[in-house]
Amino acid sequence: HNKALPNAAPDRDYAKTKEREEAAAALASVRQQLGKTYLPLINGDRVNAPNIVNSVNPSNPSEVIGKIGLMSVEQADQAIAAAKSALTQWRTTPAGDRANLLRKAGELMEQRRHELSAWMVLEVGKPLRECDAEISEGIDFCRYYADEMERLNSGVNYDVAGETNRYHYQPRGITVVISPWNFPFAIPVGMTVASLVAGNCTLLKPAEVSSVIAAKFAEILVEAGIPAGVFQYIPCKGSSVGSHLVKHPDVNTIVFTGSQEVGCQIYAEAAILQPGQKHLKKVIAEMGGKNAVIVDESADLDPAVAGVVQSAFGYSGQKCSACSRVIVLEPVYETFVNRLVEATRSLNVGVAEEPSTQVGPVIDANARDRIQGYIAKGKAEAELVLEMAVPQTGYFIGPTIFSNVKPDAAIAQEEIFGPVLSVIRAKDFDEALAIANGTNFALTGGLYSRTPSHIERAYAEFEVGNLYINRGITGAIVARQPFGGFKLSGVGSKAGGPDYLLQFLEPRHVSENV
Ligand code: SER
Repeated sequence: HNKALPNAAPDRDYAKTKEREEAAAALASVRQQLGKTYLPLINGDRVNAPNIVNSVNPSNPSEVIGKIGLMSVEQADQAIAAAKSALTQWRTTPAGDRANLLRKAGELMEQRRHELSAWMVLEVGKPLRECDAEISEGIDFCRYYADEMERLNSGVNYDVAGETNRYHYQPRGITVVISPWNFPFAIPVGMTVASLVAGNCTLLKPAEVSSVIAAKFAEILVEAGIPAGVFQYIPCKGSSVGSHLVKHPDVNTIVFTGSQEVGCQIYAEAAILQPGQKHLKKVIAEMGGKNAVIVDESADLDPAVAGVVQSAFGYSGQKCSACSRVIVLEPVYETFVNRLVEATRSLNVGVAEEPSTQVGPVIDANARDRIQGYIAKGKAEAELVLEMAVPQTGYFIGPTIFSNVKPDAAIAQEEIFGPVLSVIRAKDFDEALAIANGTNFALTGGLYSRTPSHIERAYAEFEVGNLYINRGITGAIVARQPFGGFKLSGVGSKAGGPDYLLQFLEPRHVSENV
């Protein structure tokens, strides 16, 4: 069966003047709305928060995008209590009605597409085209999980003569969503609506630096009719209040996307049975990658260069799916590296809101300093072949390429989460596969090849959750490339795939002698 989403949302085509004009108008209008305060939404009310922090534009950090109210521990407890009281009503709301609420939210996202993209461009420094694709992904998550819930809701019938046997699913209870800043719309939307449509009351704790765009998503759910207490928007400090929620005895499911360090900590904290807790928690954690693309001697180098450049430097390499290692076979090594460097050099690095920008800033000063630390390390352990000039206004790091990197070098093993690419030389395809598989991660991977036996071996032996052959390795599409990895890249099933909703559901079976 072809299970691709029939009504997938198309991206906007900015080659069309009308689309460009609408995008520019949305950016101008959003600019008029900067600096507003966004408060936590608890039990249907916007509540005053004890602590207000600024969310700023990474292209120009003196520009405050919004002021974010961070919730206290006491407010976190109130939010959990509200979720608990809303649960009976929500879990007994017919699945079709919950699904329709998601479809409505998807429609509102489509109507507000240009505006949502503009907020994202300004708040996280992501170039417009990629923001637009993220809105499409958010809409697709709403539509796909709505359909999926209706599919699962019919359950399974194992009847035999004289005995009915019915298998069905019930919601798990209360979910805490902890979302990242790098896909500040699509990822929180996907995690949240999956939990909601499955009948769980859901609290969304966004990454601090992307709280405004998450607040816009919260507005959309409210407008779509989500009842008070069923969904709550709860910006808060992860290390204190977030951790309190992870340990809370009334929480059933924690769904997280972010760093390996935080993911492992959540996994451990959630495993401890708290006083009064009558269940074990489930943790779904999507973590990092150290993703490799192999380019063999038979590869068509034009698409290989273009695909690697896009996968490595799109959103400044700040994607868990990004290519951070390219493993090139000896016979094409020099040619490929020369062409890679020239193609990368032609990228426009600049403020994200400038339409010609292809590579914007990194997210904040901490990220910039961490990435610069890796570049310094790279200079000591490999050969620097490209470093680029950058604007001085914000947190910029230009695309950086190292050549002749040893497979076990720090820059070839650790997730940098920035625009830094290691090129590694391999003598043959066996060695290339071994290098590709030689990290703690297993998220995405790619192969450029026209050799059927290599492609066949990659299918079988390339240890990643998402393998891409003769194309770029980022930008998975809902219900086309269900997305997620294994090893230390994460635990749980693939977003945008047929097993995802099951993680928010508890299967039950009833057998009746008739
Ligand atoms: N789903 C994104 C991608 O494929 C990563 O989170 O790039």
